[in-house]
Amino acid sequence: MDGRDLVRAVKDIGSERGRRAWRAAWRHRRADAVGLPRRGAERARVPGLLTGTESRPGGGVLRFARSELLVRVMAGGAVFWGWDGAGPTPSYAVVGDGPEPDPRAALEPDTGGGWRVVSERVTVAVSRHGAVEVRTPGGTVLRREAPPRWWEPVPLAGEAAVGAGSASGGTHPTGGAAGAGPGAVGSGGRGSGGGRWVQRSEVAADARFFGLGGRAAGPRLRDGAYRLWNTDPKGGFGPGVDPLYLTMPVQMVVADAGTHLVFHDNSWDGRVVLREGEEGAGSGADRPGTSELRMEGGPLRCWVLVGTPARVLQGWSGLTGAAAVPPEWALGYQHARWGFGSAAEVRRVVEGYASRGLALSAVHLDIDHYDGHRVFTVDEEAFPDLPGLAGELRERGVRLVSIVDPAVKAGDAVHASGLAVGAAGAFVRDARGEEVRGEVWPGECAYPDFTDPAVREWWGGLYEERLAQGFAGFWHDMNEPVSFAPFGDATLPRSARHAMDGAGGDHREGHNVYALGMARAGWEGLVRLRPAERPFLFSRSGWAGMQRYGGTWSGDVETSWEGLRASLALVLGLGLCGVPYSGPDVGGFGGSPSPELYVRWLQLGSYLPLFRTHSAIWAGRREPWEFGPEVARQAAEVMAERERLRPYFVTLAHLARRTGAPYVRPLWWGATEDRRLRDCEDAFLLGDALLVAPVLECGADRRAVRLPRGRWYDTATGAAYEGPGQILLDAPQGRIPVLARAGSLLPVRAASGGGVELEVWAPARGRTGGGVVIRDPGPGFEAGTVERYTVRWAGDEVVVETETGAPVSGVTVRGL
Ligand code: GLC
Repeated sequence: MDGRDLVRAVKDIGSERGRRAWRAAWRHRRADAVGLPRRGAERARVPGLLTGTESRPGGGVLRFARSELLVRVMAGGAVFWGWDGAGPTPSYAVVGDGPEPDPRAALEPDTGGGWRVVSERVTVAVSRHGAVEVRTPGGTVLRREAPPRWWEPVPLAGEAAVGAGSASGGTHPTGGAAGAGPGAVGSGGRGSGGGRWVQRSEVAADARFFGLGGRAAGPRLRDGAYRLWNTDPKGGFGPGVDPLYLTMPVQMVVADAGTHLVFHDNSWDGRVVLREGEEGAGSGADRPGTSELRMEGGPLRCWVLVGTPARVLQGWSGLTGAAAVPPEWALGYQHARWGFGSAAEVRRVVEGYASRGLALSAVHLDIDHYDGHRVFTVDEEAFPDLPGLAGELRERGVRLVSIVDPAVKAGDAVHASGLAVGAAGAFVRDARGEEVRGEVWPGECAYPDFTDPAVREWWGGLYEERLAQGFAGFWHDMNEPVSFAPFGDATLPRSARHAMDGAGGDHREGHNVYALGMARAGWEGLVRLRPAERPFLFSRSGWAGMQRYGGTWSGDVETSWEGLRASLALVLGLGLCGVPYSGPDVGGFGGSPSPELYVRWLQLGSYLPLFRTHSAIWAGRREPWEFGPEVARQAAEVMAERERLRPYFVTLAHLARRTGAPYVRPLWWGATEDRRLRDCEDAFLLGDALLVAPVLECGADRRAVRLPRGRWYDTATGAAYEGPGQILLDAPQGRIPVLARAGSLLPVRAASGGGVELEVWAPARGRTGGGVVIRDPGPGFEAGTVERYTVRWAGDEVVVETETGAPVSGVTVRGL
């Protein structure tokens, strides 16, 4: 839902809100007209020729006629480079001071007058014109970045020459050094301040692109332009809509020669134009794949991680932080709805699940439980005793989750408390120092500046009210952030000021990290308030590093088969960007799914980390029994299987934290050499053990499934298939094809008593297998113990042993 739809929608309610949205949009336009620097004449700059070098730990600095480049290889193999004084920190994505330089990596001359840094895992070579190549240790080029190009304002007559790295935006404090040099650092060290730039890169002809945050069109990112600007799309979205709520300049590139992840650490607005390559194009020569990144400002600095997908994501989670482990209950089925309306309705829905024996982990309350849609309030008439309701549900094993919107109603008590924060109050101001007001659900609102540490601390403290109401989890919404607008960008004016953690900046730089700051504020507040419990938090918008504080969800995905497909694309793409916990609105946000679409969505959702039905206030119901007895029976099976697999989800959650590997992985995860898998977008791996092939087509009762190498068992029939190859499986409406990898071991909930037992799928004869199990260590921050098991044939028997060789009994062996 966004402004255009809202304005349409509010015509029914009365036009007051519509008028306010118009006024807010006009105010924002005016604020930008006076608050943004005017773009005058510009001139392009390229680095020019190499003039000298200087060794530094892990690499060195290369000086060019009009620019300079810092190259550093880190211990662990991550590669960093930054132009014009941009260093790895400060950064909103990178944790702490970033990794240490690799002491063995040194700058040395390369062929052709260039230089290189050789390390164990990767070589970085820089040409004398400033092209940067990332090569495997064997010398194969994974990525080649052409010399970048900047556009900078032409200094007016009489003004000092503006050199490399100084801000063209005029709103940033910069080093202001004339000419190229390490002093030219803007944005408190985040590199050059406001100049636009473009970076063109080439990858192998066979390479495929993934990532860039949550993209409906993925997971394979085909030729096209992808914008880097967190956006609430107009009225829900299907596959053609871009960008969405959570973008990030992170690409995973998979090619025969190797996999790499590239991250341009820059939160400004930008656009990536991707073009896949072609082998034997034209006269038989390969045409490389290209990626062109155009940024509206900010530093040109870049990280590259090379290796297998598992290794790359391990490096990425080391760089940007380990993923928060959701509480155990957040791995069960959850039910949300905008428009429950009252405590009685919540009780009715919970009773509906309980009376049918359907496991329900949580109920989410949307903005309609607020008083006048105001955050951190309760409508006492509709929900007279929320703590009582929460306690009652808790006894039935159901948690309450609260929506939290960032915009604060102007003039209310939360607003007043925010005004007392620091010298200038907690809210974003415009270039003239006036509080920026936007239009959101409660009416005219102010926006906390989450890039200010004092504001984060204040905001985090507000969750005390939520905890006192009995809420156990938090659902951050509308945090792109949204201000309804009948025209223009439905967010804050670009000229709005942000603290940027002391560096100072405006919304052009602060926009994409707004929700990340809100997540940090919420997470840190909750940890302070309840130090013995891991918070449960997920957020619609975010940026690189989001996983430290929680997960995300699809947002308003449209109720259609295309929406179903987009749901999977989002989860896969986000996982490859390091955000492992996410899931869609099962059934789609608006409208009413057909019974068939609803069941297919429930089936897919049950194998995704966040398994939640949700819908708009105007949409049809989403409770399984509302779709008739047949669907209710099918839904019961789906939900029972999710419950059975919950210990496996717990293991995957802990593995994601420890290794960076997402729960949901593309089929090429362990087999990047199989090119056909790169193009396979309708199935996924859940951890190492399972291959899930959801039905994403209307009317289908069977589907083709492409298998990675090895033996796979159809978990429904026990039939064994040998990969690589393609098979056809039956998939009547009540069934989602799921295959288990031969030799795999996974923890499942025991049929009796609810304890955890091990399920093993027989290895092929002559082969071994195994797996790891991490049991829920409780609600706190304990890491849990990793249990490692091996699986092997002993005569005609499959035996399971612990790491020390002790036999394990009571294991269910399947696939015999
Ligand atoms: C946004 C959210 C949606 C929520 C609605 C009302 O559209 O994406 O999930 O129900 O706002 O809060």
